[in-house]
Amino acid sequence: MDKIKDFLKKLASSLQIMALYSDAHPRSKSAIDDTYNELRDVLKEYGDITIGIVGGEFVFEKEIFFELSNRLKYLAKDLSGKGIEKIIFKYGASREELSKFMNALTRRENELEDFTEYFSNLGLENINIGKIRVNDSSETGTLAYEDIDDYSYSLESVSKSFNSIFRGGTVDVFNMKKAMKSTLEMLLRGDWGLMMLTSVKRHDLFTFTHSLNVSALAMVFASELMFSKENILDIGIAGLFHDIGKIAISRKVIEKPGFLTDEEMVSVKSHTILGAEILIQQVDYIGILPVIAAFEHHLRYDLKGYPKLHYSRHPHFVSLIISLCDCYDALRSRRSYKRDYPPLMIYEIMFKERGRMFESSLFDKFFDFMGVYPISTIVQMNTGWIGIVREQNKGDRFSPKVEIVYPPKKKGVMVDLKKESKIEIKTSLNPFSSGKEYTSLI
Ligand SMILES: [Fe+2]
Ligand SMILES: [Fe+2]
Repeated sequence: MDKIKDFLKKLASSLQIMALYSDAHPRSKSAIDDTYNELRDVLKEYGDITIGIVGGEFVFEKEIFFELSNRLKYLAKDLSGKGIEKIIFKYGASREELSKFMNALTRRENELEDFTEYFSNLGLENINIGKIRVNDSSETGTLAYEDIDDYSYSLESVSKSFNSIFRGGTVDVFNMKKAMKSTLEMLLRGDWGLMMLTSVKRHDLFTFTHSLNVSALAMVFASELMFSKENILDIGIAGLFHDIGKIAISRKVIEKPGFLTDEEMVSVKSHTILGAEILIQQVDYIGILPVIAAFEHHLRYDLKGYPKLHYSRHPHFVSLIISLCDCYDALRSRRSYKRDYPPLMIYEIMFKERGRMFESSLFDKFFDFMGVYPISTIVQMNTGWIGIVREQNKGDRFSPKVEIVYPPKKKGVMVDLKKESKIEIKTSLNPFSSGKEYTSLI
């Protein structure tokens, strides 16, 4: 992955140099040479590669390069602006071809009517550009782009709907359900990798990403609880908007690292009431569940949360579902001011609240289905083997089925930890640090 990142960084800086100098200038030439060297390194390692640009981010083999420099963000934006959603570099790409491609990219926009057309006239054999299409299997590369595309599409529609509702506008429920359905289908297919990887997220998208994660989790959990499809989508919408009140609160407070003052705390807590107030105006479109969930999701099962009520009645079942998923995602997601917690610690923290914050039987159902180590977790066993969780064993939340990725001679072997009494999970590896080298296998 690092080589791909190095190549993209070099490409971005070289394009900046080329924008300043003529094609024939020695600085332009050496910029192309340098970029070509990086590209050769990449192609030697990976063969043909396909790099995607989705939602302003670069994507390679399901990994979204979130934390890249501003320079790369400009490049991603520029490429999207030219209608490029993916670039395919084939193994045989020559310096000449790369040079033509880079020169094309540095042309001023007013010189080009249509970049795609201009590009196709260059007739490059080993460099291709295109759009990402659902179920597009015609191109080289082994990427499951549709998932990334769906997720990014959902994220975009979430942020749009948030803003629209906040401004008193209406929400396109039909489109939203469509977006949510694809997220749900992705998870029901057992494809959790992307969701797990998006736990490192851009701060400005935090509330949206969190909302989408909570919505997705709540939907799969509801489907596990045998709700009807229509109910599942309604619960998904409730999950989506549970924190909408936060957009009415100063971003400085919401994104503040570390402890909040009493005053700030009051402001944050008001997101429940504010959210319900915003959503009640949309009740004709989205129904009453989102209003209830926004109001009640911090109430806790024992009613010791907020807002304070004058009556004593347990929260709505849907609020209980949302609050479980909400807490789970908040602990799971990496925030700037605290480490992301490993799965076992999340379980232990939440277990302390079983019967208090969370209704006990719902809590048990949640972890029986999610497992303590959710699908796609990278785990290390007491034998030293490293594997990726592929399937849960219902009723045994500590012993999932794991595909071994290390040592090499065990690679690909599936181990059912429920059946292997001597093998157990010793620890989980963080996909962004200790388990980094296995992340692409997720
Ligand atoms: Fe909340
Ligand atoms: Fe939340």
